[in-house]
Amino acid sequence: MELAYLNGWLGSLEDAVVSVNDRGYNFGDGIYEVVRAYRGVMFALEEHLERLAMSAAVVEIDLPWGRAELQEITAGVLAESGIKDATVYIQVTRGTAPRDHLSGADMRPNLLVTVRHITEIDPVLYSEGIKAITMPEFRWQLCHVKSISLQASVLAKRRASRAGAVEAIFILPDGTVTEGASSNVFIVKDGVLMTHPADNRILPGVLRHFVLKVAETLNTAVKVQPYNILELKKADEVFITGTVAEIVPVINVDGKTIGNGRPGPVTAGLHKGYSALRKR
Ligand SMILES: Cc1ncc(COP(=O)(O)O)c(C=O)c1O
Repeated sequence: MELAYLNGWLGSLEDAVVSVNDRGYNFGDGIYEVVRAYRGVMFALEEHLERLAMSAAVVEIDLPWGRAELQEITAGVLAESGIKDATVYIQVTRGTAPRDHLSGADMRPNLLVTVRHITEIDPVLYSEGIKAITMPEFRWQLCHVKSISLQASVLAKRRASRAGAVEAIFILPDGTVTEGASSNVFIVKDGVLMTHPADNRILPGVLRHFVLKVAETLNTAVKVQPYNILELKKADEVFITGTVAEIVPVINVDGKTIGNGRPGPVTAGLHKGYSALRKR
């Protein structure tokens, strides 16, 4: 059964309620993680909790829970749900207080954990690849924070959807490709894998981290450096990464066919390598 845990309360998702004074509700003042569970076990929970701590530090939220406690709470909710293939959502908001930009010092953060069935991913995404659009980067300067303030990403996804695409890829004024609205972006050119460095312009994706690890074991040449929109469109292969869908080939960007218009061998090899690593 899909469950929600809220500050110690545990019950069905539908029954979980937060105050209208929750700062996440009023200001988008919070951070989150999405962890995927396979066969009842969360994958890379440590990496996700480490990133949660990093996000909290950057946005100046003092987490009152230690790593072990968060691990115990999330694992407990997952076990209680009985769901084997799940998305575990962890959200921390600054707390609850009457709406005021400056919050009181004594505020305790709110912790929400939800466990849901994984939304079925259409296998055609992997076998045929997806279309993406590009659009000017219009988010903030702290994209390494996994913030719940996601209005820019929502607008980008809506624009992509209207164009018949699945993802929107952000481009800086100088042409540099940063990342997708909810994914990291990789290109392959002449056998070399490229992705934007993990700085304030992108979320340091957990899947991104594992793709780079797998590339190393496969002896794939890797350049973690900025590349531009022209290189994106002239790439032999393009793919996006994220915890839920893992690795998804991109076969068209802004109407331009990528490579031969089919998911490429490097992308497939990395996904196979990732699946093997995950099952170890
Ligand atoms: C902006 C952004 N970049 C990258 C990612 C991929 O991160 P991860 O691989 O940790 O899921 C996400 C995931 O939601 C995201 O929202």
